[in-house]
Amino acid sequence: MRVLSGVQPSGDYLHVGNYFGALRQQVELQDEHQVLLFIADYHSMTSVRDGARRRAYTRAVALDYLACGVDPERSLLYRQSDVPEVCELAWMLSTVTPMGLLERAHAYKDRVAQGQPSDHGLFAYPVLQAADILLYRAELVPVGQDQKQHLEMARDMAQRFNHAYGEHLLVLPEPFIPEEVAVVPGTDGRKMSKSYGNAIAMFAEEKEIKKAVMGIVTDSRPVEAPKDTSQALFQLWALFATAAEREELFERARAGGLGYGEVKKDLLARLLAFFEPMRARRAELAAHPKRVEEILAEGAHRARAIGRPVLEACREATGLGAGRG
Ligand code: TRP
Repeated sequence: MRVLSGVQPSGDYLHVGNYFGALRQQVELQDEHQVLLFIADYHSMTSVRDGARRRAYTRAVALDYLACGVDPERSLLYRQSDVPEVCELAWMLSTVTPMGLLERAHAYKDRVAQGQPSDHGLFAYPVLQAADILLYRAELVPVGQDQKQHLEMARDMAQRFNHAYGEHLLVLPEPFIPEEVAVVPGTDGRKMSKSYGNAIAMFAEEKEIKKAVMGIVTDSRPVEAPKDTSQALFQLWALFATAAEREELFERARAGGLGYGEVKKDLLARLLAFFEPMRARRAELAAHPKRVEEILAEGAHRARAIGRPVLEACREATGLGAGRG
């Protein structure tokens, strides 16, 4: 199966939510499938308006992905904008996308509800995302729960396009959202997200990670009291524990006598140890920026070889260009 996913370059480091919500699954899928992973720099234009920052963030994501186990020998890692064909397909898709479909998009509605200015790029975001997937006839898209609606929209667009121009053209993708890790809570209990300021960046300086972990919000029950293990602190801790360890700690928490401070300290130690090998690999890659650029160029080259014929078939079917006849 062809597996594809993308991530926006919106900061210096990916966070624990990115890792457990998506990246880990993507890395595991490499063993069985052809995996395409891209850095959605076009998409980041809907929030970042500084070219130098975008380029730096894009490199940072490439480092994070490679550090976390994306293997460029087996998988394709590329920059979205290195395959500009995606913009042409996005245009084609936009002509079969009802306004009402885009108006219902949660991501767009949320931004508008927050009183943030909206523009056409933000409104059309799901169309470009659909093109990202459909250009490569990807079958499986591992993403976080928050992307479920975007995937449904992509399927809808593919269906409408095929219906108009030919059922063989585009493949309807399936989302892949493992239940147990679907939502990783942030330090304030809401979903972990850079934009909420509640993220734990796994490759940040140790003292910064410590500050974030110690700042995880809990209720104010004293040490002796029984604890509610649905709180973010316990859910985060459980990401770094085995099922048996989890049972044991949750039992102690429910029984009372376990303080939040102790859990935080243990979470910090586990988190740092877990990411240590990846941190070392990241540092090593960061010292070789040319190597990283080569990997991205090679990924784009291979991605293009897959995407071009699909776009050509769409151009032919829609009557764009001179055509074969
Ligand atoms: N919208 C996704 C996010 O913010 C990123 C993304 C862009 C994506 N294009 C995609 C994810 C295509 C999967 C497939 O997380």
